[in-house]
Amino acid sequence: TSTPKRIAVTGAAGQICYALLFRIAKGDVYGPDQPVILQLLDLPQAQDAVRGVVMELADCAFPLLVETMVTDDPATAFRDADAAFFVGSRPRGKGMERRDLLSANAEIFRAQGRALNETAKRDAKVVVVGNPANTNAMILAANAPDFPNENVTSMIRLDHNRALTQLATKAGVAVAEIDRLAVWGNHSPTMFADWTEATAQGGKLPDMIGDDAWYRDTLIPNVARRGTAIIEARGASSAASAANAAIDHMHGWIHGTGGKWMSMGVHSNGEYGIPEGLMFGVPVICANGTYERVEGLTFTDFQREMMARTIAELEEEREAVSALL
Ligand code: NAI
Repeated sequence: TSTPKRIAVTGAAGQICYALLFRIAKGDVYGPDQPVILQLLDLPQAQDAVRGVVMELADCAFPLLVETMVTDDPATAFRDADAAFFVGSRPRGKGMERRDLLSANAEIFRAQGRALNETAKRDAKVVVVGNPANTNAMILAANAPDFPNENVTSMIRLDHNRALTQLATKAGVAVAEIDRLAVWGNHSPTMFADWTEATAQGGKLPDMIGDDAWYRDTLIPNVARRGTAIIEARGASSAASAANAAIDHMHGWIHGTGGKWMSMGVHSNGEYGIPEGLMFGVPVICANGTYERVEGLTFTDFQREMMARTIAELEEEREAVSALL
């Protein structure tokens, strides 16, 4: 049997982790033959709640889960980690301005970036889920100077999955038949679910659906507002689907995507006019444990307009936290 993989997870007492941890322990990230160790981080006041989750993990008797460790110290949580899910973040409180939310989280991700820098394996794969996910990931990477930038990513896979199902339903094809879908930019209502290059059953998806008005006026806004629709219906924000997306993100990165596109928030190198240094959702193809950005795309005016909107928002966010970069 192989050496266990160490997986650090923050926000362990929260609702996303209540779905996520059980799937990691079951083997959904590294596969059915790979033992895992969970290294769970949450705030001091959440330690009791985490212990309850750990009791339930124990009660599942997962054959692959060799150890579960709980701490309120980031450097301890990230020690020798092979993978890290940054789920915990500061939620928006009553009367809190967007700017206050950004800076409260920037403080958290600065401290956690320093801890990551100190104790994680250099090839650890990091995904930031906690909102504002893109900007939190940018801060994390900026505060981990000895940790490879490329290994810090943010999650936009939930939006990708949301778009996949809506497209598959509309076109009458299976989700798995769709390729070359992209979700660009911020994990926020400015995100751009882009079907321009999408294919299914050997054809172009936009041609198969043949309804540009539906794409612009229904698909794009529905994907962008799906989080709100779920809060309205469920009385709580999406948790199981967010956990599933985090698993898909990490599984795709580790095991490859078989030549298919998936959307990932990655550090911009300035491609496609995306300002360098922003953490930005782009299409990637994963193989051999790494991701490659999809290159060589050309944009229509509509695409450029949609990109500009989400770029502007991320630049504003960067401006709001510039002191911590
Ligand atoms: P939750 O409020 O149920 O749980 C958050 C947990 O994080 C709590 O246990 C809290 O104590 C912990 N936490 C807060 N600050 C922490 C810190 N500094 N260190 C460690 N732990 C800390 O929230 P939920 O529903 O689990 O969501 C977590 C985050 O994921 C939220 O920011 C949410 O907006 C975001 N999210 C992101 C999605 C995406 O697609 N990127 C999708 C859905 C949610």
